Amino acid sequence: MAIRTLRDLTLDGKRVLVRVDFNVPVDEKGRVRDDTRIRAALPTIRYLVEKKCRVVLMSHLGRPKGKWVDSLSLKPVAERLSRLLRKKVVFPGDVVGEKVKEAVDALKPGEVLLLENLRFYPGEEKNDPEFAKQLAEYGDVFVNDAFGTAHRGHASNSAVTKFFREKAAGFLMENEISYFERALKNPVRPVVAIFGGAKVSGKIQAITNVMKRVEKILIGGAMANTFFAALGFGVGKSLFEEEMVPVAQKVLREARKRGVRLYFPVDVVVAPELSAKARTSIVPVQEIPDDMMALDTGPATRLLFREAIQDARTIVWNGPMGAFEFDPFSRGTYALIEDLASSHALTIVGGGDTDTALHRTGLFDRMSYVSTGGGAFLELLEGKKLPGIEALR
Ligand code: 3PG
Repeated sequence: MAIRTLRDLTLDGKRVLVRVDFNVPVDEKGRVRDDTRIRAALPTIRYLVEKKCRVVLMSHLGRPKGKWVDSLSLKPVAERLSRLLRKKVVFPGDVVGEKVKEAVDALKPGEVLLLENLRFYPGEEKNDPEFAKQLAEYGDVFVNDAFGTAHRGHASNSAVTKFFREKAAGFLMENEISYFERALKNPVRPVVAIFGGAKVSGKIQAITNVMKRVEKILIGGAMANTFFAALGFGVGKSLFEEEMVPVAQKVLREARKRGVRLYFPVDVVVAPELSAKARTSIVPVQEIPDDMMALDTGPATRLLFREAIQDARTIVWNGPMGAFEFDPFSRGTYALIEDLASSHALTIVGGGDTDTALHRTGLFDRMSYVSTGGGAFLELLEGKKLPGIEALR
């Protein structure tokens, strides 16, 4: 069954319960450090406001594990949202109870309310129907715009849907699904997938699934070290997962069988330790010294990767090429971002770290699409069905 979207609903004046993902970084002073996810939900919220709906937003923040944790309150998020929307956002300071019900009932057409952190209540993560029923009382219609949480089957995105006849994906959710489909379901070919980050174990399912759908796969970051070990190279002090070596060897065999071209770094930036002041050198991958660790791709690899994506019409990227948080090891990741920014391919990027790197280069807007999902994006790449999306069907 196809998923309905906001435009399919008759909304005028209704009470709309919206699951958003406002799980954003908040510092110790209670300031939102990155509001990308809040901004990403604005088109849906503004649309509902224009339709004179009474908008009840709900989200989680962090992992309070069913207990009240003051530092994980959504109050700072309500304030930031209010500034972005240029209108008052009612914050009743709880999720359930009389006070919240009264605040919801008092909403006038076009007004917006944000509930407190859903995960202050254990029913949320337990996907508890009773808790979901209490949430469902706040709306006539349910909208899920929380793509970042779609890989979780929780009360606010799964059980809650049972209480609504009218439910739909918000604009952000719709966009995320449609870009993903353009990336891997019906892509314009050739398709190149790029994987980076620390561990093969976290991405192996995604690599294996994607292999059935792409022409080339580029692998960088510390996870390349495990492949170097699989190819019989010494990796010195580099981070690598010994137990994943047989799995990496299987990936190499599978790629050969399928005719998928795998690209690995040919040279790396090495240092005796992971530090901004470390003495660095560049070595071929076959010659990583025993007392050094590989922390970034080298200049020859940057050129190789640039060439490898040159003919791509679709590029999907997840995970940095090195320890980019430290200046001496940031070049590989930043060079790849520049290559993607100047490419004519459809570029779809996802994953928390990749996102941070994009912000640092200022080239965020030069990607065709940057997913707001970390875990959710990866699970889609793994070929999984996400509970938050399935529940909308
Ligand atoms: C995320 O940031 O990936 C989502 O908000 C889900 O958060 P969680 O990993 O704590 O469930």
